[in-house]
Amino acid sequence: MNKEISQNIHYIGVNDRTTHRFEQLWPLPNGVSYNSYLIVDEKTVLIDTLDTKYIDIFIDKIKQIIGDRDLDYVVVNHMEPDHSSSISILKEIYPKVQIVGNAKTISMIEGYHASFEDSIIIKEGESLSIGGRELFFYMTPMLHWPETMVTYDPKSSTLFTGDAFGCYGALNGGVIDSSMNTDIYREEMIRYYSNIVGKYGAAVQKALTKLGGLKIETICSTHGPIWREQKDEVIALYDKLSRYDTDKGLVIAYGSMYGNTAQMAESIAAGASDAGVKDIVIHNVTTSHASYILKDIFKYNGLVIGSPTYSNDLFPDVGSLLKKIETRSIKNRVFGCFGSYSWASNAKSILAQFPEKMSWNMPVEPIEMKQGFSNEWDAKGYDMGQKLALHIK
Ligand code: FEO
Repeated sequence: MNKEISQNIHYIGVNDRTTHRFEQLWPLPNGVSYNSYLIVDEKTVLIDTLDTKYIDIFIDKIKQIIGDRDLDYVVVNHMEPDHSSSISILKEIYPKVQIVGNAKTISMIEGYHASFEDSIIIKEGESLSIGGRELFFYMTPMLHWPETMVTYDPKSSTLFTGDAFGCYGALNGGVIDSSMNTDIYREEMIRYYSNIVGKYGAAVQKALTKLGGLKIETICSTHGPIWREQKDEVIALYDKLSRYDTDKGLVIAYGSMYGNTAQMAESIAAGASDAGVKDIVIHNVTTSHASYILKDIFKYNGLVIGSPTYSNDLFPDVGSLLKKIETRSIKNRVFGCFGSYSWASNAKSILAQFPEKMSWNMPVEPIEMKQGFSNEWDAKGYDMGQKLALHIK
């Protein structure tokens, strides 16, 4: 079902409820939407396209709105294939359509598709007249690819943002925030940001500064709801996340083969809770996908990691999580760690080096437990939680 979201601006996205993992990496328990927008003016303009697997539905949606009219322009804000893989087929169906993008976009289109000689290469701040309105283009590199840009329609004060302000979660009937309960989408925006965009906080800050002077009434992202009623809140959320700012709370992520390291995690959480930390999330790295652990790490200022020594190294899934945290250059966390071993110790030493690498504060000495959990270790874990709480609150 197409929806006219502003005068002559139509939402023509699709919902994907079959793909298990976004980018083959990140779980999609609630599916995901791919959003495209069609502006009908003296010219007809598509803003971003869809994954080619939806091409038949996509063409039907376009024809429902413009009938036998030609398509004049396709603006490519973002070249990642979930939005651009149908470009070649669109060009076959609408041979006169001109691709509009920046130099990097056009170069990527050549790499992924073909060289289209009639493409229009635009630069920062340039515009394209489409009749009764003029579209302006602003570069937002590394949000989250090098070619990413946004398209602004001053007539409707609409900003088409590519993946920015996007989230996981298919749309369930409504497409505009004011017509739905957005609780899931707001949480899924944090998960999407932490998984996909999280490495590029500085680039997001630059983009927010650049776009700060625009009058924005509606944000049209390529994933999730259209933000209108809550546009200020989602802009504020992006600002917060990209500054690596957090709420006060504690994430404890651990690996545990036989439950001893897990019990230490519970002791630390109990200590922190009794000391007044209300938001505490415990993740077993074997059963919690890193997508969700990263989301919580982006939300809260406290992080404790626990690992047994495994083959004289970290428990593998803990090592993998640390790599993901490092890749995202997450800043300003209160860090604690604990290790365990059966006959040869190493996990604690490796974990203890992590805050130095991240320039984080580690206010409490790490704990290292030999073999089985006991009341003695319970007390030590509880004490660690109490002490960390003083720095988290
Ligand atoms: Fe939704 Fe970065 O593609």
